[in-house]
This record gives sequence, structure tokens and C-alpha cells, in this order.
Amino acid sequence: RTSRRGASRNQTAMSVQLSQDELKKQAAWKAVEYVKSGMRVGLGTGSTAAFAVARVGELLSNGTLTDIVCVPTSVATQQQAESLGIPLATLDEVPKLDVAIDGADEVDPALNVVKGRGGALLREKMVEMASDSFVCIVDETKLVSGLGGSKLAMPVEIVQFCWKYNLERLRSLEEVAGCEAKLRMDGDAPYVTDNSNYIVDLYFEEPIKDSYAAAKAISALEGVVDHGLFLDMVTTCIIAGSDGVIVKE
Ligand code: 5RP
Repeated sequence: RTSRRGASRNQTAMSVQLSQDELKKQAAWKAVEYVKSGMRVGLGTGSTAAFAVARVGELLSNGTLTDIVCVPTSVATQQQAESLGIPLATLDEVPKLDVAIDGADEVDPALNVVKGRGGALLREKMVEMASDSFVCIVDETKLVSGLGGSKLAMPVEIVQFCWKYNLERLRSLEEVAGCEAKLRMDGDAPYVTDNSNYIVDLYFEEPIKDSYAAAKAISALEGVVDHGLFLDMVTTCIIAGSDGVIVKE
């Protein structure tokens, strides 16, 4: 039986959750204002991006947006977009995009971001690099003074082949010294990305000293497919917080 104290704790947790979702939605709706009829649009992955996908679907179905084609960054986003009747393409078909909208896990003051806790980092980076602009949408909980500073995962997508070797090599890089490296699990089995790869999550005690050096060193490992450091990629960041929605360019 839930005690009165337990019940009120649950209610508090629920209202915090709802208000964070409301902030994500506000950021997402603001970002969709950047989408105009005729554009080629990258659709991100995650709970914040899902609000943007839903909004694009709504504006298409009520005729406000016409003639757009979207490139999804994951199978999950593809399925959501398909369910809403959003016209989709791949980068093979539409290699140049006007705008991409996506969430992030951490945003630093220079608008460099960590992405990929949802596991979609590779397709996200490909789509966002193919776009003239990348509108990043977050609630204020994602702001950090330095990347790695949230103490949550910084993902690295690796090939399955000799994953322990790849993990050890990541762990021993000077540029990420002191981080804890763990293979991401999905229950009892390794988590597998949409590209059939594994993910190693790096956890930092302190923000990464030099994100550029870390990105370069991680990318240089042969078994690494990509990493969650998205540096110099965000063109606009929309941050929803208790004081309203802020747009940073
Ligand atoms: C998925 C991502 C997401 O954009 C990121 O994890 C943020 O997700 P959410 O909006 O659910 O907090 O990079 O790979």
C-alpha cells in the first residue's frame, strides 16, 4: 500500500516530469518555426526531438507546411514520422538539407554538445553535418559548464569486432584520462545500435579538459565508428527553462 508520504513523493516526481516535458515541447515547437515549406529537413532522435517530429506532422496535416522531405536519424524517428505521414528520404536521395532539428544530452557555453545517450549518434552526426543549419533543442537541465560535466554518459559507437580491445584502447587514451569506460547494456546483452554496432559509454568525474583533442584521439582509433562529441556543429540552440525560451546563435 502506498503511504501518504509515498503518494505525495510520487505526485511531486510526476509534476517535475510533466514540466520538463512541457519545456522540451516548447523548445521543439520554437525550432519547428525554422522549417519552411519546400525545405529538406533532418529529424532528430529522443524525447525532445519527438515533440518536433510530432509538430512537423501536425503542420503538414493542417496544410501549414507543404512540400517538405525529411531525413530521420534513427529507426525510431523513422517509425514516428511514418506514422504521421511525413514524407521521408535518405541522405542517398537527399544529400543536402536545409535544417536539422535534434536534442542533446549536454550543451556547453560555446554550443558544443554531447549527443547519443539515445544511441543514435552516428546517423545524427551524418544528418546534422549534411544540413546547412542544426537547431539544437534542450531544456535547461542540459546546460553544463564543460562537456562531460554532467557525469552522465559520453557515448562512443564501436564495431562489435573485438569490443573489449576497443574498450581498453578508449580507456587508455590520455585525452580522456580518468574516465570510466563501460559497454552499454540492454538487459543481459550488449546494446546494439541501428547500425549493428556497440556503444561504450565514457563517464567523467570532471569536464573534459580539451574536447577537440579528445574527439580527435577517439576518432583515430580504428575500431571507433563515431563519438558523441558534436563540436562546432550547432548553429542555433533553443533552450527552454523556467524563465522562458532562449535562442542562442
Ligand atoms: C539520441 C540523442 C538525443 O538527442 C539526446 O539523447 C537527447 O535526448 P532527450 O531529448 O530524450 O533528452 O542524442 O541519440
